[in-house]
Amino acid sequence: MGRLDDKVCLISGGSRGLGAATAELMIKEGATVVLGDIRPGEGKTLADQLGEKASFAELDVTNEEAWNTVVADVVATHGRLDVLVNCAGILSIAPLVTSTLADFQKVTAVNQFGVYLGMKAALAPMLAAGTGSIVNISSIDGVSGMPGMSLYSATKHAVIGLTRSVSQEVAALGVRVNAVCPGLMPTPMVLEADLSALGDVDLGAIVSQIPMKRPSDPAEVAQAVVFLASDDSSYITGTELLVDGGWHAGHVAG
Ligand SMILES: NC(=O)c1ccc[n+]([C@@H]2O[C@H](COP(=O)([O-])OP(=O)(O)OC[C@H]3O[C@@H](n4cnc5c(N)ncnc54)[C@H](O)[C@@H]3O)[C@@H](O)[C@H]2O)c1
Repeated sequence: MGRLDDKVCLISGGSRGLGAATAELMIKEGATVVLGDIRPGEGKTLADQLGEKASFAELDVTNEEAWNTVVADVVATHGRLDVLVNCAGILSIAPLVTSTLADFQKVTAVNQFGVYLGMKAALAPMLAAGTGSIVNISSIDGVSGMPGMSLYSATKHAVIGLTRSVSQEVAALGVRVNAVCPGLMPTPMVLEADLSALGDVDLGAIVSQIPMKRPSDPAEVAQAVVFLASDDSSYITGTELLVDGGWHAGHVAG
């Protein structure tokens, strides 16, 4: 028996990185999975690899109409929507003084408004059904600050605020809302990032700050997402689960 047998799951940002790893694990756990992303090439290839219980839907998370269309299509095709994973995200790395308002607007549109719009669209069928689980992907930058990460960090703190507050609004109505805060994963987002704005910092220097002295495999973070998506976490709502190799605990203690 799988942990997500018969569940219908929509993952934004599902074409690659953590979203793809989550899709893979959800399929193993018995779910039907829809990958929503702006990368149709990678998304369709992944859906084909994952088999008949996976499909791709074109979804720009900054577009409210696109969200409404995708959620309506999921419900029309599969009968319901049990799980939404708000995983789509982009990085923005720059010291605040050299950043621009346009940088902030861009990262906020995806990381913050995208999560807001996703929850708004998914909650309609979930509340009508009286059941559902939403997992929002925040970050270690959603619970602490790092130089060069102020814009990204602000959006990821906002994801925690949205998660906590919305969980209160829907807890008695059968829907749970939680966040996962990854530390460092070697996904395309990180591997393609221009770290030069941080000065003399490379990935090795960042890894050396992590108590476990390694980044996580996205599959390890996907385990936390699946736990919060599944009924195994039936009494957990409004929380944030750090999957960071002990990184944040060190910040708090340090
Ligand atoms: N990689 C890390 O170290 C790390 C750490 C903490 C948190 N996170 C968070 O994890 C989540 C996944 O990131 P990842 O590392 O897998 O990155 P990634 O770049 O590998 O994957 C992100 C996916 O989001 C999609 N996406 C971007 N903008 C979109 C939009 N407007 N609409 C729909 N899809 C869009 C991309 O096409 C991509 O498929 C993000 O929310 C990120 O902020 C990542």
